[in-house]
This record gives sequence, structure tokens and C-alpha cells, in this order.
Amino acid sequence: MRVLVSGGAGYIGSHTVLALVAAGHDVVVVDDFSNSKPTVVGRLESLSGRHIPVHAFDLTDADKTERLFDHEQIDAVIHFAGFKAVGESVAKPLQYYRNNLDSTFALVDAMNRHGVTKFVFSSSATVYGEKAPVPYQEDYEFLSSSSPYGQTKVMVERVLSDVAHITEGWKVALLRYFNPVGAHASGQIGEDPQGIPNNLMPFLAQVAVGKRDKLVVFGDDYPTVDGTCERDYLHVEDLAAGHVAALDHLDAMTEPVRAFNLGTGTGTSVLQMLHAFERAVGRELPFEVGPRRAGDLAAFWADPTRAQSELGWRATRTIDDMCVDTWRWQSANPQGFPDA
Ligand code: UFG
Repeated sequence: MRVLVSGGAGYIGSHTVLALVAAGHDVVVVDDFSNSKPTVVGRLESLSGRHIPVHAFDLTDADKTERLFDHEQIDAVIHFAGFKAVGESVAKPLQYYRNNLDSTFALVDAMNRHGVTKFVFSSSATVYGEKAPVPYQEDYEFLSSSSPYGQTKVMVERVLSDVAHITEGWKVALLRYFNPVGAHASGQIGEDPQGIPNNLMPFLAQVAVGKRDKLVVFGDDYPTVDGTCERDYLHVEDLAAGHVAALDHLDAMTEPVRAFNLGTGTGTSVLQMLHAFERAVGRELPFEVGPRRAGDLAAFWADPTRAQSELGWRATRTIDDMCVDTWRWQSANPQGFPDA
């Protein structure tokens, strides 16, 4: 298939571009580079051995989105592009709703006008809200999220579901990611957050490389194995493979829409992750325990049974693999991707 990857220069998008090409698909990228660097593209081309066509614009521009579909032959869309910082979304809710919804509307409109009916959406475990039983299962009904960011995922899932149910031929896979970490085995692409990282793994990586003084562990009084929060971390290369599996499965889907958890099914605490990262780096890393972070849940992980049985996909890489690969990327690229 010729697959349009929105946000294909971003962290998960870039790894998925490589997985798609390796699986024999053609790729077209659209990315406005608002949270990624154009130098990613050269690395994708050298790693894949292929020219990757890139369209640099913001998908909320419906005219440009329409013209993209006029000019490129597209068989399927994988939609990653979107704002994703939980805390920022609380401060700027309208920007989050506008960006994440309008980009989806423009894509769906253009797809409908051009007869494209296959859609894979980058969703999140955050749609399970605060009350779903752990492990999370896809058929949980009461989707909600405490942040505007998370709420955009709930809303886009709903929009796509409604569209797919009334539009002949539509097939949508909603991929609910747990906590993606790690980097490509080459060490040439990985997560490159702008400013102070919000998430645990890139923060740890920056402590290890000397860009940050120490990790602050957000609370150690949760009812968990060691008092710190537990999450279901999965390797970004496993996650990328999950997108290829979902794309290849769309035709076989009996329903127009299906949600799939992409996780390992196992929780790992913040301190366990810190110690795994210390093993990867080969030395102890400075940390202190601080207060809880607002909005954090104590512990959650996936029930990945559906993805295993229906997509034939399972996460195979370990926590140590995730740390070793993150460290290879971060130590080789201490400043992230170059500007030019
Ligand atoms: N943590 C720290 N110190 C840090 C950063 C994180 O202790 O400097 C802890 C957090 O408190 C949490 C754990 O590490 O317990 C993981 O935090 P992340 O920010 O890495 O991940 P979250 O589980 O909070 O966030 C993820 C995704 C979001 C998604 C959210 C939904 O990154 O996109 O899950 O639950 F919305």
C-alpha cells in the first residue's frame, strides 16, 4: 500500500515509517515540523535506502490537505500528527481541541473525496480515564480523560467511529498506546523532546547524558510494588510493528471500527525503570523523591490479548532492551537531531 503517515517525522511516526518500508509499503509523510526536525528525514532515507516524499504543512489547513490528496496516490492513512503534552493541554485547551480535531476533520474530508477508506489512528491508554479496571480492556464503555489532550483522543475515536459506521467501505483501527519508549536499534532515530521532557524516559536519558541534574520521582507513597507509579512501557519498534500489523489487518476486519491496546501487559515502577536505565548506562544516576504530579494514576497496564489474537502482534522487547536502545540513541545524539 501507499501509506500517508501524518506526523511521520515525529517520535513514533518516524519509527513506523521505517517499519512500513521494511514491510514493503510505500510511504508519503506529512508533517509541519512543529515538534520535530527536518533532519529526521535524511536519516529515514539513509536507514531505509528509499526516497521519502515529505509534505511540510499543517493538516488543519483543509485546502492544502485536499491538494495533497489531489497530487499523491494514497491507499491508507496512519494519523499521528497532533499536540501531545498533557500539562500544556490543560493550559491551552482550545489549541489542543482545535489542532487535534481540525486536522482529523481535514484528513477525513479529503479521504472521503478521494475514496480512501483505510485509517489507523494514534490513540492512547489515556482514553480509559480514571475508573477503568486494570488491566485495561478495549470494550470498556466509559471512555473519558482528565486532560484536554486525552479528551481529544476520546473525541477523535468517536468521530472516526461515527464516520466509519455510515461510510461504505471504511475500516478504522484505533491503536491505544501505553507508554512508548526506546529508540531504533541503529541509534540514529529516537525521541527528541523540545525543552524540558515531560515524560520519564527522555528525562532519565537527559540526566544520564548530563543535560539534567537529577531525576525527580513524582511520589513514592502510591499503593504499588515500591510506592512509585507503575506503567506499561513498550518499545517504540514493537509499537511501530503494531501499526503495520493493524494496517495489514484492516481488510479482514468484520466491523468498520476496532480498538486495539498496544502494550506488553506488565507494569514497571518508576524506580524499576530508573534501575534498568542505570544498568544500561553502567553507573548510578542521581534522583530524589518529590511530591506527586497532579493527575497521575497509581498503576495501569494493558490487556494485550486482542492485539495478539486478532493482529498476530505482541511486544517482544524487554525493559532492558528499551533502556539500552534509548541510551544508544541519547549518547550518540546528546543534543537530539541537528538543526540542519
Ligand atoms: N515521572 C517521574 N518523574 C519525571 C517524569 C515522570 O517520576 O520526571 C513518573 C510519572 O509520575 C509517572 C511515570 O513516571 O508515574 C510515567 O510518566 P510519563 O510522563 O512518562 O508517562 P504517563 O504515564 O504520565 O503519560 C503517558 C503518555 C501520555 C498519556 C498518559 C495517559 O505519555 O501521552 O500516559 O495516561 F496521556
